[in-house]
Amino acid sequence: ENKKDLVGKKVLVSAGSTVEPLDPVRYLSNNSTGKMGFAIAKIAQQRGAEVTLVAGPNQLALPNRVNYQPIKTARQMEQKMLEFYQQADFVIMAAAVADFRPAKTAEQKIKKQELDQLTLRLVRNPDILAELGRKKQKQLLVGFAAETQELLHNATQKMQQKKVDLLVANDVSRHDIGFGTSQNEVVFLQPDVAPELLSKRSKEKIADKIFDLLMDLNRQRRK
Ligand code: PMT
Repeated sequence: ENKKDLVGKKVLVSAGSTVEPLDPVRYLSNNSTGKMGFAIAKIAQQRGAEVTLVAGPNQLALPNRVNYQPIKTARQMEQKMLEFYQQADFVIMAAAVADFRPAKTAEQKIKKQELDQLTLRLVRNPDILAELGRKKQKQLLVGFAAETQELLHNATQKMQQKKVDLLVANDVSRHDIGFGTSQNEVVFLQPDVAPELLSKRSKEKIADKIFDLLMDLNRQRRK
């Protein structure tokens, strides 16, 4: 089975979408199902790590023996990530965090009577990954980039802006990888390292490669 090379490591993973309520029955969200982040949590646990999984609403079976922290909104995800950040060795943001939320959540269901149009005012949510980048101490920090165009260019910018040690870029305009699929194809970006393409394979295999890279970085660091 799996090598147990992550024994003694604490891994913090985010997965899935966040949901931002408009009223008691409606929300803004996105297409993330949580599969990518759950695969990362499962592989980390199998390789011996102590795993905390912070996840938005999802339909997935819980991985065995992980500390599961369900959340709904981006701000709740931010709180949970900060709560477990200090102790973590490897932190991976695979979640698709809503960048904006409704400025107000109506207390009662919004009525359509007399409304021909409805204008929503949205405000920015925190950029959790950027915040973790700013607060980074000993952690190795991994971000994802979900792109529909100019994958390398946009992902390189995210890597630099968010101060991550590793950025995993995927093309979410494709239907065979990215959102909701069991497979993914990614490009790994690291500061001062040439981009590396990992051809299409299961999200578990992608997760395995992420931890191989993190363990390499970890070894380089101790030299
Ligand atoms: O869940 P699945 O259905 O398996 O789909 C997997 C996936 C496509 C969601 C996943 O592979 C992926 O790409 N996750 C990142 C989605 C995303 O929000 O990407 P982004 O390029 O918008 O954000 C860049 C990084 O910043 C991400 O690590 C994201 O978690 C983080 N972020 C973004 C916005 C925000 N307000 N806070 C953040 O922390």
